Amino acid sequence: MKYDLIAPDVKYIGVDDLDIDLFEGQYDVPLGVSYNSYLIEDEKVAIMDTVDATKTQEWEQNLEKALDGKTPDYLIVQHLEPDHGGSVQYIMEKYPQMIAVCSQKAVAMFKRFFEKDFSDRIQVVKEGETLSLGQHTLQFFMAPMVHWPEVMVTYDQQAKILFSADGFGKFGALCKEEEDDEGWACEARRYYFNIVGKYGAMVQNLLKKVATLDIQQICPLHGPVLSEDLGYYIGLYDTWSKYEPENEGIFIAYCSLHGNTAEAALKLADIIKEKSNVKVSTSDIARDDLHEAVEDAFRYDRMVLCAPTYDGGIMPIMEDFINHLRIKTYQNRKVAFVENGTWAPASGKKMREQMEAMKNITIIEPLVTVESTVKAKTIEDLKVLADALIHNA
Ligand code: FEO
Repeated sequence: MKYDLIAPDVKYIGVDDLDIDLFEGQYDVPLGVSYNSYLIEDEKVAIMDTVDATKTQEWEQNLEKALDGKTPDYLIVQHLEPDHGGSVQYIMEKYPQMIAVCSQKAVAMFKRFFEKDFSDRIQVVKEGETLSLGQHTLQFFMAPMVHWPEVMVTYDQQAKILFSADGFGKFGALCKEEEDDEGWACEARRYYFNIVGKYGAMVQNLLKKVATLDIQQICPLHGPVLSEDLGYYIGLYDTWSKYEPENEGIFIAYCSLHGNTAEAALKLADIIKEKSNVKVSTSDIARDDLHEAVEDAFRYDRMVLCAPTYDGGIMPIMEDFINHLRIKTYQNRKVAFVENGTWAPASGKKMREQMEAMKNITIIEPLVTVESTVKAKTIEDLKVLADALIHNA
């Protein structure tokens, strides 16, 4: 286990999951994921969240070791999604005197998730309320839709720790952190935009609530405990949740039936690089990780969608990608298009219609039409588009 003692009286008791194939049944996690859980040992002993049901046994071993014969008094349930609530019923049954502390909205979810009725063992806390463990006083702040409605975060006033639920979470098991050479932001960004991205306004509300707290450490439910340079992480969350681009740059997302649209997309990337120092990132959305493409779409200020016409519309994988962006409330960006068609090109018009329906989207002209294959005329058109993209920061 990577952590033991986080702060005096505060122990890490979470687990890594390297067996998982897809997080939430959809997100590729090549370095696994961690389900974080913590123990605060004071006059009263509090467990901070549980873990996925597939890892109950390993978590229980960590818990027992940390408890060292003590009995827990409280289970603080910040989030009941099964990756954190999956061991709640088990541990509540094991320690029948233990009280679950949660938000009002979590109460109904207890009944939905657990066969056993725990109603008489639930202590509901409201915004700003506190719970004294002895030296440690826990203060609770409601964080609805970061990432479910029942979510709350917890501030340990003595240890100056913010237990941030899914907020500031990151893909990747803790035992694999050293293999993740792209730094915290890369997988934290993919996690944020794909999982919490729709709820930027709620994240902003939470950031405002905790802005006045003296936070020395952030303990999320996934990924590393954050102990230094907290302004960096909070600043990124502020940018992301305001839907502001994090970096100037051009993201080119493409798909291709027979390689011709891909050739045009990659040629456009080359032309931009030849003409400027503007950062360019590309993704073959049919072969690369689609959720990383969503991340890059939000990361940069400009995006080019390149897709062939298919059955009179857009190649389905691009339609799927655009739908992902719509669901995650993509906005405040500049977008251009490259289409392809052999007898009736239509994908450019249809992509534009779908993107224009999103908030504050500026279209960069011209639309480049690849007439089946990339020719000298296509290259000239791509050069014009490259100029427009370069000068439209
Ligand atoms: Fe990590 Fe929303 O669960």
